[in-house]
Amino acid sequence: MSEVKKIAVIGGDGTGPEVAAEGVKVLKAVAELEGLSFELTHFDWGGDRLLKTGEVLPADGLDQLRKFDAILLGAVGHPEVKPGILERKLLLDLRFGLDQYINLRPVKLFPGVDTPLKDKGPADIDFIVVRENTEDLYCGAGGFMHKGTPHEVATQTAIYTRRGCERAIRYAFELTRKRNNPKGKKLTLVAKTNVLTTGHDLWWRAFQEIGEEYPDIEKDYNHVDACCMWIVKNPEYYDVIVTTNMFGDIITDLSGIIQGGMGVAAGGNINPDPGGVSMFEPMGGSAPKYTGTGKINPIAAINAVSMMLTQFGYDKAGDRVMQAIMKVTGTKMKSQNAGKMGYTTSEVGDLVVAAL
Ligand code: IPM
Ligand code: MG
Repeated sequence: MSEVKKIAVIGGDGTGPEVAAEGVKVLKAVAELEGLSFELTHFDWGGDRLLKTGEVLPADGLDQLRKFDAILLGAVGHPEVKPGILERKLLLDLRFGLDQYINLRPVKLFPGVDTPLKDKGPADIDFIVVRENTEDLYCGAGGFMHKGTPHEVATQTAIYTRRGCERAIRYAFELTRKRNNPKGKKLTLVAKTNVLTTGHDLWWRAFQEIGEEYPDIEKDYNHVDACCMWIVKNPEYYDVIVTTNMFGDIITDLSGIIQGGMGVAAGGNINPDPGGVSMFEPMGGSAPKYTGTGKINPIAAINAVSMMLTQFGYDKAGDRVMQAIMKVTGTKMKSQNAGKMGYTTSEVGDLVVAAL
């Protein structure tokens, strides 16, 4: 038996707990098969808790999480809670507080999954976005003057540090090397150096300097607007993308939809440093209208579990889950859309377990 890994499971809002449960089901099954050992602790943090108790998570919530090896998060977003509160408390505070400085978003079209891109298939859509996850417009730096008057001024400042961009860029180069794409190892920096001539100049210089340490990797650059066109027109162009937090947020939704949508796409908020606690999540959102109906797609949550296994260094188990997902999307599921899968949420989880 391997060492016991402690996992915090935060189901969160809406359908989050349902999809997280399927992720846990698959995690338990693969642990059994691979001789891995996990200890799971469930937390009821989220919108319902806020409405009942006045707090999203307890005051020492972050400290509690620091004792875990990883976090599996279901979804964030409650129809009765004003936008911004849960996102801040359950997502951004955890990302920042646990210094999860990489947001890793693999974009892979699984077999049998529909993409809105004409004439593109699994061989064309297979890249990874490394999004910086702790800086940029997400820092919350800014304020108002003369609020509510015709003279109102609002500022929201993007903050970039050398350390912040360097660690993201370095992570991306290492990942590109490890991925060792048979089409050629290529890392594309996505930014907007023609307009953001200070912050993105810092990114550009760091990319060039660090890139010298990676002569085996092709160094490439796209402006973010052009990148959006290429993701749609020629997704096969990309191997690994590294980008800033805000642009990464936007291009990963675009990328998510070309890989079959929010029922499939998963992400990891990674702190790769020794002892770092990373958090894995389906990108689907809480889809409150489907809560309790058994219609929501758990593939993204299971995909998040696969990422978590790989992050632990359990590559074989991670790949086993990925292969099982691809078998189920390729040979069983009718669609990746909620209510159209041909199976219930829990049945899809069972199918993946059977395919392991
Ligand atoms: C994401 C989400 C979050 C983000 C929101 C919910 C705060 O869109 O994980 O991409 O902007 O990072
Ligand atoms: Mg987003």
